[in-house]
Amino acid sequence: MCATWILAPFMRQCSSNFILQCQFAKKISSGNVKPFQTVPGLKALPVIGVMHHFLPIVGSVGLHKNFFNMFDVLYEKYGPIVKIEGIFGRGPMVMFFKPEDYDKIYRAEEIPGPIRRGFQALEYYREVLRKETFDGIYGLTTAQGEKWRQFRTKVNPALLKPKLVKLYAPGLESIAKDLVTRLNRLDSRSDTSQELETYIRKWSLESVGLVALGDRIGCLEDNLPNDHPANSLMYCSKTIPDLSFQLEFLPSFWNKWNPWRLNKLMDLFDLQWDVSQMFINEAKKRIINRQHEIPDEEQSILEKLLAIDDKVAVMMANEMLFAGIDTVSYSAIGVLYHLATNQLSQEKVRQEIREGISSRYLKASIKESLRLLPVLSANLRETSRDHIVGGYHIPKGVFAIAPNEYLSKLEQNYPKAKEFIPERWLVNKSDPLYYGNTNAMITLPFGFGVRSCIGRRIAELELEILIKKLLEELSIEWTGPPINVITKVINEFKKPYYFRFNKI
Ligand code: HEM
Repeated sequence: MCATWILAPFMRQCSSNFILQCQFAKKISSGNVKPFQTVPGLKALPVIGVMHHFLPIVGSVGLHKNFFNMFDVLYEKYGPIVKIEGIFGRGPMVMFFKPEDYDKIYRAEEIPGPIRRGFQALEYYREVLRKETFDGIYGLTTAQGEKWRQFRTKVNPALLKPKLVKLYAPGLESIAKDLVTRLNRLDSRSDTSQELETYIRKWSLESVGLVALGDRIGCLEDNLPNDHPANSLMYCSKTIPDLSFQLEFLPSFWNKWNPWRLNKLMDLFDLQWDVSQMFINEAKKRIINRQHEIPDEEQSILEKLLAIDDKVAVMMANEMLFAGIDTVSYSAIGVLYHLATNQLSQEKVRQEIREGISSRYLKASIKESLRLLPVLSANLRETSRDHIVGGYHIPKGVFAIAPNEYLSKLEQNYPKAKEFIPERWLVNKSDPLYYGNTNAMITLPFGFGVRSCIGRRIAELELEILIKKLLEELSIEWTGPPINVITKVINEFKKPYYFRFNKI
């Protein structure tokens, strides 16, 4: 009796899976569904996989500096569904250029929990190499299935409730002011690209650090010593994605078996973990030594989560100090670029700030900037079951890719698609620019559904506050050619930056 009760959900699942499998088998054998093998795209060769397709000049796709250009070639060559055969234990990838196609898969994968397997090296680090340290708590980035769901359920309220996140605004304002002071000092006569990028990265670490740990890290201080631990966190946030990209994403036989790169990556994971633990332990000590309750607005995410689960609190703070640095930095540079190259929009935002009534135009400008220059070019889900999409059988274990940046810049999806027009997010239905005329799955800068970015509210607040503080004091100009994107897991920009900040 007891065994029947325990096994009932499992049996139900098995029988519904079985029924689904039978239905799939029937549909496929009926000849109405084309087999997976016939999806057009890049075929793998033994040993080298698909590498030859990406060789410069001679390869069928060629080498591209960003995913946008690569998606363009693949779409033009193969049409709306394109397969890249998998190699070295990685599943095949399928790119869907019709939003209704990936929509079907992404929605179906919401239950029991979407799988997003992107960082195999980090997965290996947490689940195998440092198994004892992580003890089954793998965080959001790499956990899948039930482990991911349990973790996410615990952290969602503290990070995503707009009311709770807004409480950090005063602290974030003072950090933004510090950045503005430094930007104001940049010498407009020389190339200060590296300095500017470093300041912005320091601002984003300082901001996410405040929210995560409840105190200033101090990395915007003048003359920060080279051996300050904040420098290690910024170094890791920049170098880890670069190295992971080379090892895991670039189609190279050599990379997969390059022990030097793999060891270096493991050392960087150790460094990021150790330094973040140092900051987290200091924050924990401050909480213990305080010995009295403080209001919500003064409690960090760490403190809120410590009340629920110690290990989850530490892991979440660690992931914030990693995932919340470069993502926000490059998004901020993107918004500054768009406002600098669209003086009319810049003035509209400034006017709104002066009136102090609403932030509608500012929010629309950030949204529009993330449409055109998103940090991630595409979204990803691994299929946990069979699907039938666009007439093809898409089996379990496929990486289903939504090329959101590419689709967001197509004229068929947005009028004047490549132009920065914040108004499209504000006008009503009768206006041809109205964003609601476009499929809502096309622009997804923070991802989709239950697994979308947990730091979204924090990032949006940081960006809004930065732009407000900056435009109150400075005007921004861009004095060079259009900015160029380089994809290294996240979209970065080719330097130099041609910003000029002037005191108003
Ligand atoms: C503008 C800045 C940011 C952008 C554009 C961004 C974008 C994204 C995207 C596209 C995903 C994948 C979502 C999906 O698969 O559906 C993601 C996941 C994630 N982001 Fe962000 N992010 C930003 C800032 C942040 C910040 C500030 C934090 C930390 C506070 C953060 C932490 C995370 C984490 C932990 C995940 C994994 C979530 C999960 O799998 O449950 N992100 N982000």
